Amino acid sequence: MNATAAPIRRQIHPPPVPPSPFPYNPGSMLSVQDLNLEAVGYLLSRATELEGMDPLVRDRILLKRRIALLFYESSTRTRTSFELAAKALGADTTLVSSLSSSIEKGESLKDTGLTLRALGAEAIILRHNSSGAPWLLEQCTHLPVLNAGDGMHEHPTQALLDLRTILQRLRHGADQVDAGTLAGVTITIVGDILHSRVARSNMLLLPRLGAEVLVCGPTQLLPEVTATMGPGIRIERDFDAALRRSQVVMMLRIQAERLAGLQLDLEEYKADYQLTGQRLASLAPEAVVMHPGPIIRGLEVTAGVADGPQSAILDQVSNGVAIRMAVVERALLAQEGRV
Ligand code: NCD
Repeated sequence: MNATAAPIRRQIHPPPVPPSPFPYNPGSMLSVQDLNLEAVGYLLSRATELEGMDPLVRDRILLKRRIALLFYESSTRTRTSFELAAKALGADTTLVSSLSSSIEKGESLKDTGLTLRALGAEAIILRHNSSGAPWLLEQCTHLPVLNAGDGMHEHPTQALLDLRTILQRLRHGADQVDAGTLAGVTITIVGDILHSRVARSNMLLLPRLGAEVLVCGPTQLLPEVTATMGPGIRIERDFDAALRRSQVVMMLRIQAERLAGLQLDLEEYKADYQLTGQRLASLAPEAVVMHPGPIIRGLEVTAGVADGPQSAILDQVSNGVAIRMAVVERALLAQEGRV
C-alpha cells in the first residue's frame, strides 16, 4: 500500500457562486442608485486625478489585469471610451460582441459570463438589450459588473460623465458635490424619454444634487406617468417654454430600434422638438447643449447647433474616458478594499 499522502488536488475551476444580495461585488456599478453623493464626488475627483496623471505612472495601476467588454448592442462612444480607459490604467481588455461570438449560436448570458470568468476576466463591462441583464450577470459570476447600458433602463456612467460636463460648464469643474451643488439649475431633457436609459440615469442622479429636471417630448415618447418621475422632475411639453428656463438642454435620439411599431410623424416632431439655431438663439442663448450621441443631424438637432459654440457634445465624449478610468479602477480595487 502506498503510504504517501493523497496527491494535492489543484483547484482548476473557480468555486461555485452562492446567491447573494445586489450589488454583490463592491466594485459593480449597476445603477446610479448604487452611488451615494460621497461616492459620486469620489469618482469625479478621481477622474480628474487620473486624467492629469503621467501616463507611464497611470498604466501601472491595473497593469495586466483582465477586463472583458461584453456588448450585445452596437456602441461607438461607450465601448471605445471604456476600452481606452481600461488600457490607460494598464489593463488588458478583450471585446466579445454578440455578432462575432458564440452568442450568435445561442449561448446564454450566464454561460458567456462564466466563460469569461474562467478565461480570467476580473471585471465585465456589459451592454445588453434587456433591462436588468447586468444584475443577472453579477449574480451568475460575482465579478464586478459595470452597466454600459441595459435596454431602456439605465446607463450610469453616462450620467456621471454628463454630470462632469455640466459641472465643467456651470461650476468651473467642481468635483465635490452635495445636495445643493446644482440648486437653481434647470436641465431639460428632450425627446424620446420613454426609451432612453440615458434620460433615466440622469433623472435618478441630477435631482439629488438639487437640479430641477424638466422632461419634454410628445406623449408617445413621454407618457404622462413614467416610473422614474420623482422629486425635482416635471413634465413640460412646450419645448419653447422649457428652453426659456434652461441652463442645460440635453437632446436625445429617437430610439428607432425600440419603438416596436410606434408611428411618429417626424415633420411634426421636428416642428415641436427639434433644437434649431433660431430656437436656441432666441430662447436660450447661454444654455449648454448636450447629447449622448449618436446624433441624427437634421432630426433632433440641426447641424449648426451640434457644431455650434454652445455644444458640449464632444466634451461629453472626452469626459467618458476620464469617468470610466475612475469607474474601472474602482471596479477592481473596491473588492480589495483599496478604494
Ligand atoms: C446612448 C445609448 O446607447 O444609450 N448612447 C451612448 O451610450 N452614448 C444613446 C442612444 O443610443 O441614443
